Amino acid sequence: MKDDTKTMEGRETATLIVGGKTIELPVITGSEGEKGIDISSLRNKTGYITFDPGFANTGACRSAITFMDGEQGILRYRGIPVEELAEKSTFVETSYLLINGHLPSSQELNGFSVLLNDHSLVHEDMRTFFSNYPREAHPMGILSSMVNALRSFYPRLEGLSRVEELNVQVTRLLSKMRTMAAMSYKISLGHMVVYPRQDLSYCANFLNMMFNTPVKPYALDDDLIRALNVFWILHADHEQNCSTSAVRLVGSARVNLYAAISAGITALWGPLHGGANQAVIEMLEKIQINGGDFEPFIARAKDRNDPFRLMGFGHRVYKTYDPRALIMKKVCDIVLAKLNRKDPLLDIAMRLEEVALKDPYFVDHNLYPNVDFYSGIVLRALGIPTNMFTVMFAIGRLPGWIAQWKEDHDDPNWKLVRPRQIYTGPEQTHYVPIEKRG
Ligand code: ACO
Repeated sequence: MKDDTKTMEGRETATLIVGGKTIELPVITGSEGEKGIDISSLRNKTGYITFDPGFANTGACRSAITFMDGEQGILRYRGIPVEELAEKSTFVETSYLLINGHLPSSQELNGFSVLLNDHSLVHEDMRTFFSNYPREAHPMGILSSMVNALRSFYPRLEGLSRVEELNVQVTRLLSKMRTMAAMSYKISLGHMVVYPRQDLSYCANFLNMMFNTPVKPYALDDDLIRALNVFWILHADHEQNCSTSAVRLVGSARVNLYAAISAGITALWGPLHGGANQAVIEMLEKIQINGGDFEPFIARAKDRNDPFRLMGFGHRVYKTYDPRALIMKKVCDIVLAKLNRKDPLLDIAMRLEEVALKDPYFVDHNLYPNVDFYSGIVLRALGIPTNMFTVMFAIGRLPGWIAQWKEDHDDPNWKLVRPRQIYTGPEQTHYVPIEKRG
């Protein structure tokens, strides 16, 4: 295929010669100059489809939410570098930015915060419903079920415009998912649930709901609240990753927002995606039990016959250091210094990173630490149990999922997602009655 043809109108096209036909395909260019060949007419014109397992070369939508450049390690939300947001913004403000497309005025931020506060309580019947869930159930399973159940507990609102109803649904989700996460933790311990407080910020409220008890009040600390804000800002969106694509795909069938988000939570649960932060800590703990010797783990990761991978390394898009991992490493140092704590897993992680970054296998494969490599150490220091790490990621990713779902819904060229396939099964055969089967 030639990719540099200019049409008569001067617009770039790509020429494809296939099956004895020559066709011109338009090239579309994004605002940062990245290019894509629009193949939407390919099958109609040629009878051919494209084949791209894992969609590594496929743009599934146009999106104005997040820009990332995997070669240069750039991540921006609505044009703003994530480094600036991590330094200056809060998770609530960044959520507003992602969902509404601009930084809020004081009045808008205030209105958003009021709605978040108004919708922070969870229906009491939900609490009793989920208190009978098996204690050993993974919190991600509980969370996806609870979010899906929100539609039943909070059906459609009458008398509101579409925009007003969406605002309520969005703030309800953002606020309640945080409350439900803390609630399911308390239920898993058999402790009484702590309710959200009107006088606390979003992040402070979460820490209080998680760790306050009537016999041991939790002392809120500004540095730890800030660390949680940064953790959630860094996770807030990452364009068309696996869980976001799940939200868009399920949402394309026009299910309600809660059901689409529930699909995203389920996808995020996987150890190759959001589950990696839990898997990193489990791997570092195994290395610690092994006396801190990580060489066997590196050897296994390099062995083509062994499915083992170094968790927290590698990324589908980043072929350099994940910019979020750099910030997370700094947050790690701040939190541990604040708590006056040393974490032996951090020492192992830093030595492992140093060795892996020089190893020809990791260099040749462009494998660098991703956000999950250091995030587990931050969460551990905050007191979050390992099996809730992915829930923390899910709360952070929620504004991104909502923004992507909304963008899809507002797109006048919206289409039900329905990929095709290259069929490799048997050619037509005939039904054989059971008594005649050999
Ligand atoms: N350790 C060892 N080898 C690796 C690793 C790793 N962590 N990651 C990729 N590779 C190797 C593969 O074995 C493969 O080698 P080969 O070409 O010699 O066969 C090559 O790199 C490419 O691997 P793919 O799986 O095709 O690359 P992909 O882009 O699909 O992988 C992924 C991305 C899934 C994240 C992968 O790097 C991985 O499994 N990492 C570990 C899990 C992890 O940390 N996930 C978190 C991702 S970030 C996030 O979701 C927030």
